[in-house]
Amino acid sequence: MAPGPLPTELRGSRVLLRPLVLADFDQWREVRQRNRDWLLRWEPKPPPGQPDDTESKPAFNARCGAREREWQLGTGYGFGIFVEGALSGEINLSGVQRGPFQNAYVGYWMDEARAGNGYVPESLVTVSRFAFEDLRLHRLQVAIIPRNRASRRVVEKLELRDEGVAVRYLAINGRWEDHIRYALTAEEWAERGQELVDEWIGPPPAPVLRLRQRG
Ligand SMILES: CC(C)(COP(=O)(O)OP(=O)(O)OC[C@H]1O[C@@H](n2cnc3c(N)ncnc32)[C@H](O)[C@@H]1OP(=O)(O)O)[C@@H](O)C(=O)NCCC(=O)NCCS
Repeated sequence: MAPGPLPTELRGSRVLLRPLVLADFDQWREVRQRNRDWLLRWEPKPPPGQPDDTESKPAFNARCGAREREWQLGTGYGFGIFVEGALSGEINLSGVQRGPFQNAYVGYWMDEARAGNGYVPESLVTVSRFAFEDLRLHRLQVAIIPRNRASRRVVEKLELRDEGVAVRYLAINGRWEDHIRYALTAEEWAERGQELVDEWIGPPPAPVLRLRQRG
C-alpha cells in the first residue's frame, strides 16, 4: 500500500528528526570524527575503496543522495537526530519490504557527549510512530550484539519483544556477530504505542493563544 504524503520532519519532545542534507557536512564531519572510536566497533566496515564521507564532501553528498533515493523509492527513511539544533546522532529505517512482510530494520547512534539522556529511546518512539502510523508498516526490528549493553537498555526500556539470538547475523567491524533480534509489531503499537508516546514524547505543544486586540 503506497503511503500518502509523508512528513519529512519528526518531532519528539527534545529531538528533531530530519533527513541529512549537504549543508550538514561540517557538523557531520565534526561529530563523526570525534566519535570514531565510540562508533566504529558497532558498525559495518565501509566497502574497500569507498571514500570516507567524514572527510570528503562529495562522498557525504553521495550518501545524502542515496538516502534521498531510498526515501523516494520507499525502501529506506534516514533521519539525523538534532538536539538543541546540533546534529547529535542518526536513526534510520532501512531495508523496507512491502508485500507480506511490511517490515523495516532500525539502526541508530548517538554522540557520546550526549549519551545517557534518553535521546535514542525518544527518537525510536518517534520513528516507530512514523513507521506504523504514516508508513503503515507491520513490523520493526532492532538487531543488537549481546555485549552492547547500552543499546540493549534502549530496547528494554521500551519493552520491545526479544525474539532470541540470530547466530553470526551481521558483519560488524569486520566480524560475523551474533545479534539479539528485538521486534515491535503494529498490533503491539496499537496496544501500547500511546503509552510510549505519552512517556517519551508527551502531548503535542499547546496552540499559542492570541489575545484579540480591541478597537
Ligand atoms: C546505544 C546508544 C545509541 C544509546 O543511546 P542513548 O541516547 O545514550 O540511550 P540512553 O540515554 O537510553 O542510554 C542507554 C544506556 O546507555 C548507558 N549509558 C548511559 N550513559 C552512558 C555514557 N555516557 N556512555 C556509555 N553508556 C552510557 C546506560 O546503560 C543507559 O541505560 P540506563 O538509561 O538504563 O542507564 C549509544 O550508546 C550509542 O550510540 N552507542 C554506540 C553506537 C551503538 O551502539 N549503536 C547501536 C548499535 S545496535
